[in-house]
This record gives sequence, structure tokens and C-alpha cells, in this order.
Amino acid sequence: MKSHIADLVTKALDQLAADNILNAGDIRPPVIERARDASHGDFATNAAMVNSKAAKMRPRDLAEKLVAALPASDAVQAVEIAGPGFINFRLAENSLHSLIPQIMRQGHSYGRSQAGAGKRVQVEFVSANPTGPLSTGHGRQGVLGDCIARLLEATGWDVTREYYFNDGGRQMRVLGDSVKSLLDRPHGLILWLTGAGISAESGIPTFRGKEGYWQVGSRNYQAEEMATWSAYQEMPDEVWAWYLYRRGVCRAADPNAAHRALVRAEKHQGDRFLLVTQNVDGLHLRAGNSLERTYQIHGNIDFMRCSRECLPAPIPLPDGIDLRWEKGRSLVGEELDRLKCPSCGALGRPHVLWFDESYDEANFRFQSSIDAARHASLIVVVGTTGATSLPMHIGTIAAQREVPMIVVNPEPNPFSELVRRAGRGAFLSGTAGEWVPELVGALRST
Ligand code: APR
Repeated sequence: MKSHIADLVTKALDQLAADNILNAGDIRPPVIERARDASHGDFATNAAMVNSKAAKMRPRDLAEKLVAALPASDAVQAVEIAGPGFINFRLAENSLHSLIPQIMRQGHSYGRSQAGAGKRVQVEFVSANPTGPLSTGHGRQGVLGDCIARLLEATGWDVTREYYFNDGGRQMRVLGDSVKSLLDRPHGLILWLTGAGISAESGIPTFRGKEGYWQVGSRNYQAEEMATWSAYQEMPDEVWAWYLYRRGVCRAADPNAAHRALVRAEKHQGDRFLLVTQNVDGLHLRAGNSLERTYQIHGNIDFMRCSRECLPAPIPLPDGIDLRWEKGRSLVGEELDRLKCPSCGALGRPHVLWFDESYDEANFRFQSSIDAARHASLIVVVGTTGATSLPMHIGTIAAQREVPMIVVNPEPNPFSELVRRAGRGAFLSGTAGEWVPELVGALRST
């Protein structure tokens, strides 16, 4: 319809030229647009305003002449001059009806035009960087880019669609180097470092995820407060109740695809495989990884130690302690007795590294983990915020030794930052379930 109105106005201007009111060569092309305010009509033009100077007339005077020169049209119900010289068009009720047979006749070619006059245009879109993660954003760009290309084609442009595949340059070289260094070092240790994120898909809340708090009396305690030697000294039964509750959550969960993939990795990689985990949930061992090649650097919730450290090593929690422990349930005397050290009778304590305690070799394989990082030829970090010191130390050693690091996490973390700064390795943005089986498969061939 807009083009119809434009046609009417052009014919009127030509008529004024024919009537020597305007000089054909001076006619300035009018703007036809939808009226901003429906009470002014459907379309408006500034034809009189932009040509009044050439006509040496006041815009409203020229508007009157223009309106008088407009060809008749069934589609136009009324034409009004408004304000300084705008001309408003009100379409006839049935003006659009006449379009229907036209649309039916023209079908898919309806609305197309030759405005582009065959001019060439190149639309580049998506062009995802092959060394970086693909995101929904790329999907959105795909749709947007294609719509723009189709619109241009429909208006007569000669469109070339381009997907710029950046398969050259520094980033590709870095990715290539990383893969090559993987292949060139077939005999080196592959160190897998996991955090709470790898167990998220088993239903265990991540440590800094929505774990919530533990209520003692009227006071709410955060995990970081409960998981301390000082809390244990102050309220051992409450700390035990919290850990038995968390143990229940862990025991109710099953290993997921990422855990199972690491069992396959241990089979494929043999003594080149080492797993260093921050998780106390025991899911790696339950999936089938060996205790020998799994360093549980923050302990294991199924084990306890003597609070006087009189035992040579952690012992499994005794039978008779319920595996399902409701949140808020307290221990009774008999249950506390069961948690006593079988050797000296002192109360046992969960075999977990607390926030006010330090790593050591005997309980948490501190030195072994550092040594492993010093010999690894590849480090894969899965599902951690890097909030604790030993894991970050392992990452720093890798960066200092220029060892490739592959980081799997839904969001960037200090390890992906190390990779970005070092320009070596890869950050695979996504979940453990998505990437770990892939990686294990890819490494199988090295
Ligand atoms: N796959 C991979 N990563 C995930 C997933 C998933 N499905 N879901 C969440 N993550 C990521 C989160 O993005 C986050 O970066 O896992 C990480 C979990 O971080 P934390 O909860 O901080 O756990 P973690 O880094 O393991 O730190 C916990 O800190 O306090 C100590 O001893 C405590 O072992 C514990 C450690």
C-alpha cells in the first residue's frame, strides 16, 4: 500500500511540474511513512515541505496544489493537510481487501521487489571460532543472518551468504600445538583433577551451589562454618549429624557418565592415569576407579579418623549408622558411641579436610599430588571453582611447566583463565557429562 501512496504522490508532483508550478529537475523525492498517530490517518508524506522552496511557496499552499493534483484512488478514503504542510492519507476500509486477490495471485512472490536492482551483497554470519565454544548465541546469529539474507533476496539483491571459517591464525595454531603436544608425549602422565561439578549430574549439590545451611537450635550455619575443627570441638554431635546427612545424600546418588568414563580412562591409560579429586562423595571409587590411582585430597565422607589421630589410617564408618539421615536429625548416645575410635575410645571425626585444617600427605596425598603435577604431560580439570589451594597449585605448576591443560566447566574459572593466559590447552565450556566421555574417547587413540 505504501508503494501505491508513493505512486500517487509522484504522479501529483509530475503534474505540478507539468503545470510549471515546480521545475521537474528540482523535485525532491518525498518521504512516505506510516502516520505516527493513527488519528492522523494511515500514511503521511512531507512532499510539500521538501519541495516548497523549489516552488517558492509556503508548504501548506503547495500541499493544497499537490492534493488537488493527486490521481483518484479507490484505496484512499480521505486526504488531509496537517500542521506545517504534511499530507495525511486515510485508507478506505476495503482498501486492503483489494490486496487479497493480489496476494493469492502472486503467492510467494507477493511483497518481493527489485529495490536491490541486482546489486551484490555479502552477508557473513555465525562464523564460530573453531577453537572456542559454540553457544546458543551462534544459533541465534544463524537464524538472524539467514533472515536478513532472505529479506535482501526478496528485495532484489544478489546475496552471497558467508560462514567465515577461521581455520588459520594464532588460535588454530595454538589448538594444533596443543593436540600435537598431546600426541608427541604418549608416555606422560595424564592427571585428571575433579571437583564437585563432576557429581552435579548425579544430583549432589555442588559445594558452592545451593547446598543451603544447617540449623543448630535457632542458628543457621553455612557449610564453611560447619566444616571446621573448631565447630567439631564446639558441637561434635551436630557436626556428625551434618556429615551423616551429607553422606546420606552422597550414598543416594549414583555415579554418572563422566565418572564411568574416568573408569574407562584408567583402563585405557593404565599407569599413565591419575585422578586427583576434591570430592568426598566417594563416587569415583564407587564407579570403579582404583584407590591406588585416586587421590582423595579432601577426604572421603564414608570414612572417619580418631579425633586424637591415634589410628594409622582412616577407617570406614561403622555399620549400624543409618545411611539415610534426615536433615536436622540428631544423634542419640548409642550412635555417638558407635562413632568412637575402636582403639582409644575417643570420639571419631569425619575423614574430611576442614577449612581450618591443612593438607598433608598421609591423609590427603598432598605431596603426591604436587609430584604428579610436576610429571604430568596433560592435566584435565573438571567441574571446580578452584576455590581451594592444592588444586590451584596443581594448575599453576601446569602453567609454569607449559603443560597443556583442558578445562571442563559450564562457566569460566581460574583454570580456564590460566589456559587463556598461557594460550595452551582448551577451555571446554559445558558439563562433565558432555565432555568427559568425549575426551576419554579422544585420548584413547593417543
Ligand atoms: N559439569 C561440570 N561442572 C559443573 C557442573 C557440571 N554438570 N555443574 C556445576 N559445575 C561447576 C560449577 O560451575 C562450579 O564451577 O562445578 C563447580 C563447582 O564448584 P564448587 O561448588 O566450588 O566445588 P569445588 O570447586 O569442587 O570446591 C569444593 O572446596 O571447600 C572445599 O572441600 C571443599 O571439596 C570441596 C571443595
